Amino acid sequence: MRLATPTDVATLGIPGQDPRGFQILEGSAGDRAIDMTNLRRQTGLVALDYGYNNTASCESAITYLNGEKGVLLYRGYPVEELAEKSRFVEVAYLLVNGHMPNEKEREDWSMQLNRHALLHEDMRHFFSHFPDGAHPMAMLSAMVVSLSTFYPELSQNQHHVGDEAIDKAAARLLSKLRTIAAFSYKKSIGEPVVYPRHDLRYVANFLNMMFSSPVRPYEIRPEVVKALNVLFIVHADHEQNCSTSAVRLVGSARVNLYAAVAAGICALWGPLHGGANQMVIEMAEEMAAQGMSPKEKIERVKNSKGAELLYGFGHRVYKTYDPRAKIVKKACDDLFRALDVHDPLLDMLRELEERALADDFFRERHLYPNVDFYSGIIYRAIGIPKEMFTVMFALGRLPGWIAHWKEALEDPRFKLQRPRQLYVGPGLRHLAPDEVVRADRAAVLDAR
Ligand code: CMC
Repeated sequence: MRLATPTDVATLGIPGQDPRGFQILEGSAGDRAIDMTNLRRQTGLVALDYGYNNTASCESAITYLNGEKGVLLYRGYPVEELAEKSRFVEVAYLLVNGHMPNEKEREDWSMQLNRHALLHEDMRHFFSHFPDGAHPMAMLSAMVVSLSTFYPELSQNQHHVGDEAIDKAAARLLSKLRTIAAFSYKKSIGEPVVYPRHDLRYVANFLNMMFSSPVRPYEIRPEVVKALNVLFIVHADHEQNCSTSAVRLVGSARVNLYAAVAAGICALWGPLHGGANQMVIEMAEEMAAQGMSPKEKIERVKNSKGAELLYGFGHRVYKTYDPRAKIVKKACDDLFRALDVHDPLLDMLRELEERALADDFFRERHLYPNVDFYSGIIYRAIGIPKEMFTVMFALGRLPGWIAHWKEALEDPRFKLQRPRQLYVGPGLRHLAPDEVVRADRAAVLDAR
């Protein structure tokens, strides 16, 4: 991995101490960081940074993101170019391996993804034991961590696992997550599962497992395959976002890939992160049900003092239009035109966007549509139910999680991630007599 270049030194003046120098590092795209790794050792102080707004947790060569200019590059390639000219499996290869696959690598990769598509039959039975209405994200996470019981070879201390085993686990996970996602959908609608087919490519295979049934053939339309490829590509990585940071943090304890990714899936589920795509559609459905206009919704959000959000808007890093949202918006227009469908919720979203972008509240806070604003409406047009939207995000994000887990493991500086805190609780105190359970009472309590 290419490392950042040391440039100047920043001087920190702490009252009562001599000024200390901290190295400024420059990344390959010109971004600069102060290396605070030794802050506590040198000064006795820690850095307090709520939400890690200012903290770079690592050096990474996977994805470059410039939130002010709206730039997103995977391994140097603009996401727009990849979305237009590549397929998801190639982008997954790029993220995990660092370069676009050549002809032979592409074939080997496809073969590996095909070979690992099936689930162990014992795992298939797990699905029947989840209660009806179980959220597919909960099933997804549980099933992914269960993979480590079937493939324990990665469960040893990760430093002793060879590249080949890691690559195999990556291909296995990419392939099986798609099968698990489709099976969990079939479970939720009470239909028998449809097994993966060797003659179908990644996205087409997924659509077939989702929508075909013995009594109902499913036509795999190229426009739908194209739209899903684009959606998976724009979700494929986003540097140190919440779920990827979860994968890295959990991975730093040297758990296996499946356990780290299961943690990422749980983080992604949250409505402030990947769960926002489901929230956007629920928000629009609720507006339609209540007869609330976009104008009224915008006013409600503004007057709520942060209690009510416009889901699909705002981003921690982007302070301009999210480049992914632009791609998704176009994919949405293309798909609706190709399928010749109309959805009144799409009209509502368009008006919400237009009104928000023209409103001072949103302009002053730099709130623009993010990747989740128009993705749900595409899934809806394809026939994917809203509970599955974040599962779709997870399928797309998986190569990024794998790439970060792998990169971290290969980095000799990858340490157990263990933040500090600033303690603000009570000072030292001792138990008062009435806070101590008497021995005779303790015996009664223990017996219960
Ligand atoms: N609707 C209304 N107000 C908002 C929104 C929103 N969607 N997002 C931020 N704000 C306001 C927020 O209330 C605050 O206002 P004030 O300065 O008056 O207190 C200001 O904008 C700054 O927001 P913040 O919460 O400090 O910003 P953040 O960087 O912590 O939050 C965010 C980022 C994505 C959590 C937030 O914008 C949000 O909750 N958006 C809605 C959920 C959403 O769409 N999430 C998907 C993110 S993109 C997919 C992914 O990669 O996860």
